[in-house]
Amino acid sequence: MTVPLVVLWLHLVGAVVWIGGIVYQAHVLLPAARRGEAATFAEAARRARPVTWTAISLVVLTGFYNVTRLGPYERVIETGAGLMLAGKFILVIAMAAIMGQRDFAQVTLLRAALASGGDPQPALRSITRMDRVVLLIALVVIYLGLAISRAR
Ligand code: HEM
Repeated sequence: MTVPLVVLWLHLVGAVVWIGGIVYQAHVLLPAARRGEAATFAEAARRARPVTWTAISLVVLTGFYNVTRLGPYERVIETGAGLMLAGKFILVIAMAAIMGQRDFAQVTLLRAALASGGDPQPALRSITRMDRVVLLIALVVIYLGLAISRAR
């Protein structure tokens, strides 16, 4: 057991917890919420936030460590790993930005709508759209992670 291996393991555990949590919310809880169980979803989404953001922080911090283990700069550029890493980084920033908007703006709007007797559907629709985009980007990011680690 080496430090780089443990850090890579944490990287993947963080990714599984983050993306797995969104898959469960998007494909199990959100369909039920759109059919009338919005309060249950709002509570679950609020409770999921600390776990999700701990996982996101873990993935990003361990990702930076992984970059330091890729080897000589010239080799990273030659193999194409550098370009894939740049693409992955931009996509992860986009994912984190959407997640911030989802968890701290839309989930808050949803809870406010439920508390004031308003319509929860607009916030639920926004969260559904954002989850789909995050999951689609995650497919590309996971592929790029695998490709980067095999390019060197
Ligand atoms: C700032 C964010 C991130 C950075 C800088 C980063 C960086 C890296 C690097 C450099 C590697 C190669 C590790 C190695 O070969 O030793 C890697 C592997 C990987 N990353 Fe990330 N990553 C980030 C976020 C993510 C996210 C958000 C996901 C998933 C949603 C992810 C999934 C993976 C996967 C599946 C691997 C392949 C592991 C392997 O087969 O060895 N990464 N990452």
